[in-house]
Amino acid sequence: MKHNSILITGASSGLGRTLALTLARPGRKLWLGGRNTERLEETARACISRGAAVHLKACDVANSAAMAEWVHGTGGLDMVLACAGITGGTRKPLGPDQPATEPEAQIRRIFETDLIGVLNTVLPALELMQHQPRAADGMRGRICAISSVAGLVSFPGTPSYSAAKAAVDRFMVATGGNAKKAGILLSSVVCGFLDTPMVARNTFPMPSLTDVNSACRRILRGLARNERRITFPLWLVAGSRFMDLLPIRLAESYYNNQPAGAAGSMPEPDLS
Ligand SMILES: NC(=O)c1ccc[n+]([C@@H]2O[C@H](COP(=O)([O-])OP(=O)(O)OC[C@H]3O[C@@H](n4cnc5c(N)ncnc54)[C@H](OP(=O)(O)O)[C@@H]3O)[C@@H](O)[C@H]2O)c1
Repeated sequence: MKHNSILITGASSGLGRTLALTLARPGRKLWLGGRNTERLEETARACISRGAAVHLKACDVANSAAMAEWVHGTGGLDMVLACAGITGGTRKPLGPDQPATEPEAQIRRIFETDLIGVLNTVLPALELMQHQPRAADGMRGRICAISSVAGLVSFPGTPSYSAAKAAVDRFMVATGGNAKKAGILLSSVVCGFLDTPMVARNTFPMPSLTDVNSACRRILRGLARNERRITFPLWLVAGSRFMDLLPIRLAESYYNNQPAGAAGSMPEPDLS
C-alpha cells in the first residue's frame, strides 16, 4: 500500500522527529503532534522543505477526547507512529535503611503518557482504519507504538517505565493478532537506548546506544515487512529475556549493582 497520510506523536523531538524527517517527501501528508509548539514547528519547517504537506497538533497524548478528535479529523491514515513518551528513574534513598523511591506524581505521569497516551493514539486509529478500503496488498493501515527493552524486565531502576512499556508491547502484539485479519498491522518496537534528548543527561554508560537514524531505518524496514515486534539490538533483547527467566532475587542483585538505572542517575522528568 501507499503511505500518503502518516500521523506521528512525539514529533517535536528525538525518534518521532527523525521518523517525520525521514518520511517527509512530496505527495505525502504528515500529521505531527507534540506539546512544545516551538520544537514542533521546527520539525514542520524541515518536513515542508522536503516537500511534505504538514498539519500540526499541539496536544497532550493523555487527553483522550483531543486525541480522538485529532485522529478522526485527519479523514484517513495509512500509518500511525506513537512515539510520545517520557521516562524517569528512582530517587536516592533518604537514609541507609530507606528504599530508593519513585515519586507518585512521576509514576502516574509515566502511565498516563506512555500507556494511556498510546491507547489514546492507537484506539481511534484502529477505528478509523477499519473503515478504510483495503489497498491492493490487502492492507488498510499500519500502527506502531514504541515500547522498550525496559519492558522485557522488572527493572528496579525504572519501575513505572518498565511496567508501562511492557503493557504497550503486550497490547500491541496481542491485539495485532486480531487486527491483521482486518488488514491492519499493529507493531511494537522493543529497542534499547537511542541517542535522543531523552537520555542525553543520563549519568551512566548506556550499553549499545543506537544512533537515532539507524533506529529509524530499522523501524521503517520492520513495518514494511509487517513485523509485529521490531527488536534491536538483538543481544540486549536476548540478554533481557534471559534475565527475566532468572529468580527475582538473582536478577535484582545483578541490576542493583549496575551503574545504569542506579537511584538518582536519571534526570527527573518534566511532569507538566
Ligand atoms: N531514547 C531512548 O533510549 C529510548 C529507548 C527505548 C524507547 N524509547 C521510547 O521512544 C519514544 C521516543 O522517545 P525519544 O527518545 O525520542 O525521547 P524525546 O526526544 O524525549 O522525545 C519524546 C517526545 O514525546 C513527546 N511527549 C512527551 N510527553 C508527551 C505528552 N504528554 N503529550 C504529547 N507528547 C509528549 C515530546 O514532545 P513535547 O515535549 O513537545 O510534548 C517529544 O516529542 C518514547 O516512547 C520512548 O519511551 C526511547
